[in-house]
Amino acid sequence: MKNIVLIGFMGTGKSTVGRALAKRLGYRFIDTDYAIEQITGLTVEQIFRKHGVKRFRGEEVLLARKLAAQENLVIATGGGMVLDPENVKMLRQNGFLVCLAASSETICRRVRNKRTRPLLARGNLHRRVASLLEERKGAYQTADFTVNTDDKSPDEIVNIIYQTL
Ligand code: S3P
Repeated sequence: MKNIVLIGFMGTGKSTVGRALAKRLGYRFIDTDYAIEQITGLTVEQIFRKHGVKRFRGEEVLLARKLAAQENLVIATGGGMVLDPENVKMLRQNGFLVCLAASSETICRRVRNKRTRPLLARGNLHRRVASLLEERKGAYQTADFTVNTDDKSPDEIVNIIYQTL
C-alpha cells in the first residue's frame, strides 16, 4: 500500500500524529529528522551548525529517494522537506501527501519551549514563524489534502486522516 506522507510546518504535530497513525494502520513509522540523525550520527542542530542548511537539505533528498522506493510507511517529514519540488515528486510517486496545518499563534505556542529548531532559534519567534509560513504557503499546498490541527487532539486528527484516505 502507498505511503502516507505528513507534510507541514514545524509544530503542526506531524511526529505525534504520524506515530499514532502508523499504529492504527499497522504501518512502519519514519520521522525524517530522526532518520537523518541516525544516518549522520549528528543531531539536526549539529548538522545546521557544523555543515549548514544545504547539507541538511542534501540529506533530506537522499532520504526521500530511499523512502519513495518503499511502501506501508507513515512518514513524518521535516517542515522543509517539500521546499524541494524533487522531493515532492519522489514522495508522491508512492504516497499520499497529507498536510497538517495550524495558525501561527498555535505554532508559536507549540514550539516556544522547544527552541532546538535551528530555523526558529533566533530573533522574534512570531515574526519568524509568520514570514516562513508565508514563504512556504505554496509548498504545503502541494498536499493531496490538508487537516487543520488548531483545536484537535492527535486522535481526532488520526481519525480524520483515516476516514479521508
Ligand atoms: C525544518 C523543520 C524541522 C527540521 C529542521 C528544518 C524546516 O523539522 O527538519 O529544523 O525547515 O521547517 P520539524 O518540522 O519536524 O520541526
